[in-house]
Amino acid sequence: MKRQSQGVVLLALLVLASSSCARREPQPAPAAAPTAESLRLKETTVRNVTGHPIGYKVYPAGKPEAAESREIAPGTVDRFKTATPLEIEFSTGKKDAVYALDPGSPYSFRVDDETTIDLFLGSHGRDDAVDLAPWVPTPQPVVDRMLELAAVTNRDVLYDIGCGDGRIVITAARRYGARGVGIDIDKAMIEESERNAKAAGVERQVKFLGMDATKADISEATVVSLYLLPESNALMRPILDAQLRPKSRVVCHNYAIPGWESKLVMTETVEGENGDKHYIYLYVR
Ligand SMILES: C[S@@+](CC[C@H](N)C(=O)[O-])C[C@H]1O[C@@H](n2cnc3c(N)ncnc32)[C@H](O)[C@@H]1O
Repeated sequence: MKRQSQGVVLLALLVLASSSCARREPQPAPAAAPTAESLRLKETTVRNVTGHPIGYKVYPAGKPEAAESREIAPGTVDRFKTATPLEIEFSTGKKDAVYALDPGSPYSFRVDDETTIDLFLGSHGRDDAVDLAPWVPTPQPVVDRMLELAAVTNRDVLYDIGCGDGRIVITAARRYGARGVGIDIDKAMIEESERNAKAAGVERQVKFLGMDATKADISEATVVSLYLLPESNALMRPILDAQLRPKSRVVCHNYAIPGWESKLVMTETVEGENGDKHYIYLYVR
């Protein structure tokens, strides 16, 4: 891809030592001077979470003639340094799908409900952590109902996997006196959660961990809440199986846990603040 390769190339400045100055100590080469273009470059990432190799084309927006064809292995991340929007195209089997990529944003290839490849915004482009979902908050009426259905009390320890601004953990602490732990990969969300907990006066009941939730010890949880993509719920299932004690409750917003059908005790549809529909799934481990 012409335009992109230009963007990725860093300008290097070679300084040749003067041969006439035999006794001169070697000098460090001056750093490459930043160009206006290099200052605007941001890293855009695409991650393959489908479990299959995926072929795709990528090019500067509106310039399909400059397309570069690539293949991405399952579980890996491709990176593009770009100052301008890109377009990404792949064959879904039914049609060619083209998506816009904003400079600096992380995306994931997924398999959608019709088993075609789809593209979703993620939360980060790190290689060392799973991208479970983008930051999208659960509306407060849905949070309230999730905690009611899970029958949270002051004897519970609630873990929110991918806690965002901490609203589920904080509501459980404020309303029911529960202890809570929120885990999020995004350090800015953790800081916001801590500020929100303080503002709600529950900072002694809750804590927030900035880490990959798939690597966390969640074994003390009596209640777990999930608002993640469906394949991320599937990824969490063996962790929940291995770590949670029997009778622990798991409450999910919008997406079920594939393979836990026998543990499902209740589903409910709730209206959000704008009258839109949200689904709650309650499981008992
Ligand atoms: C859909 S939001 C849910 C936020 C909150 N639980 C709620 O319901 O309001 C998903 C969150 O998961 C976080 N996330 C994504 N991957 C993660 C990972 N590997 N470990 C921990 N958090 C992650 C994102 O940063 C984002 O804040």
